[in-house]
Amino acid sequence: MEINPDEIIGHIGEVLSERQKKRGILIHAFQRIQEEHNYLPEDVLRKLSQKLGVPLSDVYSTASFYKQFYFTPRGKNIVKVCTGTACHVRGASKVLDAVEKEFNIKQGETTDDLSMTLETVGCIGCCGLAPVATINEEIVGEIDMRKIEEVIETIKEHR
Ligand code: FES
Repeated sequence: MEINPDEIIGHIGEVLSERQKKRGILIHAFQRIQEEHNYLPEDVLRKLSQKLGVPLSDVYSTASFYKQFYFTPRGKNIVKVCTGTACHVRGASKVLDAVEKEFNIKQGETTDDLSMTLETVGCIGCCGLAPVATINEEIVGEIDMRKIEEVIETIKEHR
């Protein structure tokens, strides 16, 4: 059988562009779904998979490639404790421990009432204020033992 490179390359080009198109559609769909649900519910991903004719495993592998997509419900408020080097050195673990203990969750988890998700972050770019945490978009810096209580109260006020 004779091989025609143009035919093969043309075919691969078609396949790639189809895959790229589907990937683009998937990402856009994930963003819309997450805007609506705050995460990517399994039943919605199943429907998306069927509608687009993309295997569910591909849907999941595409979504899990991007850190901004979540597979479990997230809280109304997102609290991030910086555990980057500067914050680590200046006591980030105490901040994290105090918040975990107060709300009875570990980093990466969400409270049962879905009021808060607790996350850690590498560095949020204000190392001079270490240790630092964010409550949604609000940055709280220089968190000492006294300020931990304030942070906890602020989180509770956001609930
Ligand atoms: S290490 Fe925490 S803000 Fe940079």
